[in-house]
Amino acid sequence: MTAWTLRDHTPADEPSWLRCRVLGFLDTAYFDDVATRKPSRDLELVAIDNNEVVGLLDASIDGTDATIETIVHPDHRRRGIARALLDEACTRLAARGALQVDAWTRDDDGTLAWYDAHGFVEAMRYLHVYASTPQEAAAFADRSDLMPRSGFFHAWIEHEDTLRAEFQRVHICRQFVRSLETPAR
Ligand SMILES: CC(C)(COP(=O)(O)OP(=O)(O)OC[C@H]1O[C@@H](n2cnc3c(N)ncnc32)[C@H](O)[C@@H]1OP(=O)(O)O)[C@@H](O)C(=O)NCCC(=O)NCCS
Repeated sequence: MTAWTLRDHTPADEPSWLRCRVLGFLDTAYFDDVATRKPSRDLELVAIDNNEVVGLLDASIDGTDATIETIVHPDHRRRGIARALLDEACTRLAARGALQVDAWTRDDDGTLAWYDAHGFVEAMRYLHVYASTPQEAAAFADRSDLMPRSGFFHAWIEHEDTLRAEFQRVHICRQFVRSLETPAR
């Protein structure tokens, strides 16, 4: 396998970036979170292998807090790509005044293991609830001109048992945080 390199995203990367994001989410709880244009972020890193984007890290900075999204193409996982993207991002974010980096994710074991292995701790959790059938969506119907077929809702974590009994697709959405002031484990 050829070596990959890490660099800033350029506009010409967009088609490959979008493919990497779709494929990277395909085997996860975010499988239907599809972007068709790259959103603009404060920091945009990519890992390139054979002229294709095989990993990406976007970060937004809000004061001393930064939020990241890290995705690696499924054919290129466990090569240290996300680790290298994160290390580079943390260095650059700290240089721009960020004191903490956080990330939001759902219930994929590999992703949770990755955050755990990179010095993140879970700071909060809430629920993502999908009404996936007309029957589930009907629970929220209160208008006569619309016939709900599906829906997506946020809910507090204390309602988890009740909502799981009622809806097929419920995710725990977790915020992981890592301080930029102390060395990671
Ligand atoms: C999470 C993700 C970014 C990790 O990317 P990666 O490049 O494969 O990660 P790395 O190679 O840097 O992994 C380093 C370490 O993290 C841990 N890790 C990564 N993936 C793991 C998995 N599937 N199971 C267990 N541990 C895992 C291990 O400790 C691993 O070290 P090892 O390979 O020596 O055991 C990638 O799996 C991914 O893109 N997932 C789907 C997208 C997603 O949900 N992103 C996060 C939310 S935006």
